[in-house]
Amino acid sequence: MKYKAYLVEENEGKHSGQVKEIEMPSLDDGNVIIKVHYSSLNYKDALASSGVKGVVKSYPFVPGIDVAGEIIETSNSEFSVGDNVVATGYKIGMSVFGGFGELVQLPSKWVLKLPAELNSFDSMCYGTAGITAAACVKKIVDANVSNELPVLVSGATGGVGSISVGILSKLGYQVHAISGKQDKVETLKSMGASEIILRDEFTNEPVKALDKAIYGGAVDTVGGEILAKIISMVANQGVVSCCGNVAGAMFTSSVFPFILRGVQLSGIDSAESSLVLKKELWNLLSNEWSLNLTDHIKTIQIDGIGDEVKKILNGNQVGRVVIKHGD
Ligand SMILES: NC(=O)c1ccc[n+]([C@@H]2O[C@H](COP(=O)([O-])OP(=O)(O)OC[C@H]3O[C@@H](n4cnc5c(N)ncnc54)[C@H](OP(=O)(O)O)[C@@H]3O)[C@@H](O)[C@H]2O)c1
Repeated sequence: MKYKAYLVEENEGKHSGQVKEIEMPSLDDGNVIIKVHYSSLNYKDALASSGVKGVVKSYPFVPGIDVAGEIIETSNSEFSVGDNVVATGYKIGMSVFGGFGELVQLPSKWVLKLPAELNSFDSMCYGTAGITAAACVKKIVDANVSNELPVLVSGATGGVGSISVGILSKLGYQVHAISGKQDKVETLKSMGASEIILRDEFTNEPVKALDKAIYGGAVDTVGGEILAKIISMVANQGVVSCCGNVAGAMFTSSVFPFILRGVQLSGIDSAESSLVLKKELWNLLSNEWSLNLTDHIKTIQIDGIGDEVKKILNGNQVGRVVIKHGD
């Protein structure tokens, strides 16, 4: 069975992607084959598409950590041909060909039936960014962080950041958003932020061992010095959900926020989360935590992936990019 995919190849150390026709291997035991209706573009996909070391095992490779579509072959009786399904993370788009192809073959234990309230397109408007945002917010909600103080979100116009802003605001938190994009203040307000802090202003003053406690909690999608500063500004018993590293992988913090304020730094790894947690997060996103993302979604076909990858790597993406297969 042949199918079209955005195949990334390596030539003399340089990586580039092109739409090519490739062959789907026959169905392995324990697997399903999914006709992919939609995928989405995440930061990790941009790294995989450009050959950044440590993401993809070997090239040629089809990236795409998110998949939404319909089962066309199954070796697991829990699934039937025609089931609408979603799959995110695990090794999809890292060592197993992913959602940038019209077909994928995945272990059935990575696949979930879509909640009835969500169609394939809506699920990919959220994608991994959405379930990561939901996991970050859940840490804050589960710790009963009060809404008396605002909650801070960094990388706020990005995929994870913008959905975090939307969910937190829907749950009644006052959301302050850190962004590098001066011209997106109104967009961030429409997503639910009440105050926008420009990134340069936030990082203007050096990080203190313990700063004024003005935030109840935070979702940090960027890491580095911004994460260190956020931790120093969170009030007693606050939670900082940490999920990203676009601003840097390393940070230095004093112990004071932890030992004088009981602040919790909560790590998120959505890719390897259990299917049980993923199911819970999809259910939240399709019910109480659902957002109308249509104004912040760009839909493209696989031949448009290259341009969007450049944008995300340059930190210029706003909202989410959904990839549509077929006409
Ligand atoms: N741990 C997990 O399970 C998990 C899951 C998904 C994603 N992630 C990670 O989360 C991060 C965000 O992912 P995403 O898909 O939301 O990416 P994205 O859409 O590209 O968003 C990243 C945002 O970060 C901000 N930014 C860009 N460059 C920056 C810099 N040098 N310094 C500070 N901020 C910068 C930009 O927003 P502003 O201009 O508004 O500041 C950008 O839109 C990535 O590191 C990704 O790998 C982790």
